[in-house]
Amino acid sequence: MLANDVKRILISEEELQERVAELGAQISEFYHPDSRPLLVCVLKGAYMFLSDLTKHITIPHEVDFMATSTYDGGLDAQGAVRLMLDLKANIADRHVLLVEDIVDRGATIDYLLRMLKQRQPKSLHVCSLLDKPERRVHQIEITFLGFTIPDEFVIGYGLDIDEMYRNIPFIGIPKQELIDRLISE
Ligand code: IMP
Ligand code: MG
Repeated sequence: MLANDVKRILISEEELQERVAELGAQISEFYHPDSRPLLVCVLKGAYMFLSDLTKHITIPHEVDFMATSTYDGGLDAQGAVRLMLDLKANIADRHVLLVEDIVDRGATIDYLLRMLKQRQPKSLHVCSLLDKPERRVHQIEITFLGFTIPDEFVIGYGLDIDEMYRNIPFIGIPKQELIDRLISE
């Protein structure tokens, strides 16, 4: 069982579902019903969050995808951000909402915000499931936030360790043995 590799559940499936529903309602209120916002899912980590979130958004909207990676893998990626997949949509004059799994150092979102701003969207906001403010390097304004978490490495609900464990339906802290086994630094 994948869940056996979790030391502690930080946010349960029920808590996640409840909060995601609230965020969907907030987003539905925030945008004008005719504004047709574009939700941009930052792959891979935000895939599960986006799919649950959109079910709770009651105004017409579109989804699109971007992917980034850092040169440095591992638990503590500090390399430069690199774009792996760009949007299909033209965002000029559109309302854009970036949907992220977690804002940690802030490098990924900072990079994406700078890039998207140059394309002159009508508005540009961030929705992140998690915020880990203790490690922040880049100042990021998160308009819609799920949970603030302590400086712990977490997995599940889209977040991975060595590309696995994304499918766990809650947010958990992996056992040290798992970290040692998968991450050789
Ligand atoms: P940032 O650029 O440091 O803000 O990092 C953002 C990216 O690092 C996130 O989109 C995640 O993919 C990854 N990340 C940061 N913290 C964690 C974590 O605790 N677990 C899994 N992935 C994480
Ligand atoms: Mg991510």
